[in-house]
Amino acid sequence: MREDYVRIFDTTLRDGEQSPGATMTSAEKLEVARVLARLGVDIIEAGFPAASPDDLEAVRRIAIEVGIPNDGTRPPVICGLARATRNDIEKAWEAVRHAARPRIHTFLATSEIHMQYKLKMTREQVVQRVREMVVYARSLCEDVEFSPEDAGRSDPEFLYRVLGEAIQAGATTLNIPDTVGYTLPDEFGALIAGIVQNTPGIENCTISVHCHNDLGLATANTLAGIRAGARQAEVTINGIGERAGNTALEEVVMALHTRPNQFGLATGIDTTQIARVSKLVSNYTGIVVQPNKAVVGANAFAHEAGIHQDGMLKHNQTYEIMRPETVGASVSKLVLGKHSGRHALKARLTSMGYFLGEAETDQLFERFKALADKKKTITDADLEALISDELYQPRELFSLENLQVACGTMGMPTASVRLRDPSGNLHVQASIGTGPVDATYKAIDAIVQVPNILQEFVVHAVTEGIDALGEVTVRIQGENSLVLDAQTEVDQPRTYGGYGADTDIVVASAKAYLSAINKMLVATGQYGPVEFAATQAVQQA
Ligand code: KIV
Ligand code: ZN
Repeated sequence: MREDYVRIFDTTLRDGEQSPGATMTSAEKLEVARVLARLGVDIIEAGFPAASPDDLEAVRRIAIEVGIPNDGTRPPVICGLARATRNDIEKAWEAVRHAARPRIHTFLATSEIHMQYKLKMTREQVVQRVREMVVYARSLCEDVEFSPEDAGRSDPEFLYRVLGEAIQAGATTLNIPDTVGYTLPDEFGALIAGIVQNTPGIENCTISVHCHNDLGLATANTLAGIRAGARQAEVTINGIGERAGNTALEEVVMALHTRPNQFGLATGIDTTQIARVSKLVSNYTGIVVQPNKAVVGANAFAHEAGIHQDGMLKHNQTYEIMRPETVGASVSKLVLGKHSGRHALKARLTSMGYFLGEAETDQLFERFKALADKKKTITDADLEALISDELYQPRELFSLENLQVACGTMGMPTASVRLRDPSGNLHVQASIGTGPVDATYKAIDAIVQVPNILQEFVVHAVTEGIDALGEVTVRIQGENSLVLDAQTEVDQPRTYGGYGADTDIVVASAKAYLSAINKMLVATGQYGPVEFAATQAVQQA
């Protein structure tokens, strides 16, 4: 094991997906796993296979399609989470065993509060269960990770004992979670240092850190853990995760990258792909990235204040510690216009890292031309919005044919909607509402007739200017769709995100809503597997 290397363990598809609103379809999970592999993560925690047969199948597909090398490159480890039970461990193994480098990750709580109230187990019973289940996991898989859940609030002496047992039983990675985001950086660093010093056999294992962000300290705690000797960081894209989220991949990676003198540690991440992966995860989950989010927020590289701009013009490092290009953030510059041809579009997309097939290029070129008729200049950000709207979409079960709205200060906001259903039939419906979007959504509901609750609706302009493309992200909650949460062991409602972009924000809103509805219909098994319009053809460099 290299001492100067930190393994990046991405749990966007497990702990991230566990957060309210982040449900992804199997096809989306597979696409995210593909881009994570290209990003260079070392381990992909692909899900919690015991949650449901669908979850198991999603992990299995990732193990087969992302975890098996087909081009001579070293694939990431594909990991499945399991509670410390035989059933969960068997399900995890069934899902990951096809990967070239499979891993089972099993966990059991070690804090007094969890043992007493959640597990209703004594310390001795916990030690025995850990021993038995790690031995069992190891009998199936060579690579076994064990996590003492709520380690941040566990008695350190007991922790050393449990970890020592897990090592003897065959665990190869020991992950230390601050499950409820309670610890402070010096405290968490000291916990890891204590584990390094006091756990028998730890020198032959990788120590991992897994922090939650309840006090806004997840990244600081993760870095403190790394300083104290951890060589694996468990993270999610955009920091998504339960409650306040998990440690953000982009923050840890860029801290290590930007401050080499402080850490002297490398990762395998291609930082130039960070912005693109962030956008993809945000579109799929419907969880919008806050504008001031470190590294990937829309304002992360905006230097608005006059004094900053002046400094930036004199020397860009006066106020900028990272270059936007380093994380692949597109600078909103003019790239193409009305007279640009298909060739210019393709060349621009290629230089942005999108390698589209002929059919997808044609599809995008049509959208590009339509946009160029309405908008004077087309930027990289516009192109990315078009790609999300056209290519990163689930199969259209219900598709928008026409939409017309009447609104304003006089009369009732009214929408007339024409949709095509999965059998190709057209349906027309008119509705009134409190505004044009409400009226549109009511008309769509009247046609689709699948009850759901709209949980979030966010609209934002892709670029500056009155002619900007509007992008809309929505999240809806289905009424009859639940998923088992690995840690709380409670069934949680599933929610689905949808994305749409158009210069007309009511049209963008309708598309986003339909995209979420289409996902929900497929995920609840009503219309067969979701396949993506053309994602297979979208390859990044
Ligand atoms: O936060 C946590 O404790 C977890 C474990 C399952 C590792 O996610
Ligand atoms: Zn967690």
